[in-house]
Amino acid sequence: MSSKQLFDLTGQTAMVTGGGSGLGRVMALALAEAGANVVVCSRRLEVCKEVVKEIEALGRQALAISLDVTAPESVVQAVEKAVSYFGKVEILVNSSGTVFETPATEMPLEQWQSMLNTNVTGTFLMCQAVGKHMINNEYGKIINISSSIGFKGVDPEAVDSVGYTTSKGAVMTLTKDLAVKWGRHGVYVNSIAPGVFTTGMNNPEIPGTLVHKAGPIIASQVPVRRLGRDDDLTGALLYFASAASDYCTGQILVLDGGLGSK
Ligand SMILES: NC(=O)c1ccc[n+]([C@@H]2O[C@H](COP(=O)([O-])OP(=O)(O)OC[C@H]3O[C@@H](n4cnc5c(N)ncnc54)[C@H](OP(=O)(O)O)[C@@H]3O)[C@@H](O)[C@H]2O)c1
Repeated sequence: MSSKQLFDLTGQTAMVTGGGSGLGRVMALALAEAGANVVVCSRRLEVCKEVVKEIEALGRQALAISLDVTAPESVVQAVEKAVSYFGKVEILVNSSGTVFETPATEMPLEQWQSMLNTNVTGTFLMCQAVGKHMINNEYGKIINISSSIGFKGVDPEAVDSVGYTTSKGAVMTLTKDLAVKWGRHGVYVNSIAPGVFTTGMNNPEIPGTLVHKAGPIIASQVPVRRLGRDDDLTGALLYFASAASDYCTGQILVLDGGLGSK
């Protein structure tokens, strides 16, 4: 296979949770540019429909589906719709996620549970529903979006959310365990761990979002001296989504400009 063919996704179907905004939107468009048809899903159907229009403008097919990853019946219905519309799903990107910043001593149980439910249980339910389908087809590429701050403790001045860091650590372990359990079935499970990318969730310029105060400080500490940009995601995403990664599973690829290496 030529190196171009290795990364080609023509004719494949990708399902992207959280695909209507932020990093999910960026990844949905990148997969479409690489040739895939894309199912864009999250709770807000309207934002997903906007991304569908952008994908169709690229000449690919796309479908918007309303999905709550924390609700098992919603997950099963969304996967059934995707499979009945496109016939199959070869690529799953789990980008849905949520965060609340509150000091650990004060964090309400509802915030903790919301982060665990969306980030961990939601990722598990999607892997379970799409994974069954992939195992039947003896092929699939799952990419779970974790976070560079899921590996270890984080100064509260940077990100004050023990529920978020805990949830992202769990996403990494889920990724590795499913990779080991499903590798024999042709299903690959890897994770991208982004550092700080500017999105709705994480905008140094928008008060109330994660790293509003700390963004400029973090950027000055990143070895490459900037926050993440949309294009910084694409290489890792297409590697994990395509035949280029057919001997790679259970891996966490950190995209943080080198911050975690300090
Ligand atoms: N931005 C960063 O710097 C950064 C760094 C590390 C990791 N991440 C991770 O990257 C992922 C995307 O985050 P983002 O920065 O792009 O923020 P974002 O734009 O706020 O994206 C979060 C997405 O999750 C969806 N979502 C939330 N709850 C959901 C639910 N119950 N069911 C289905 N979808 C749900 C949201 O859509 P609806 O509201 O329509 O449901 C939204 O599209 C998250 O997993 C985040 O933890 C981001």
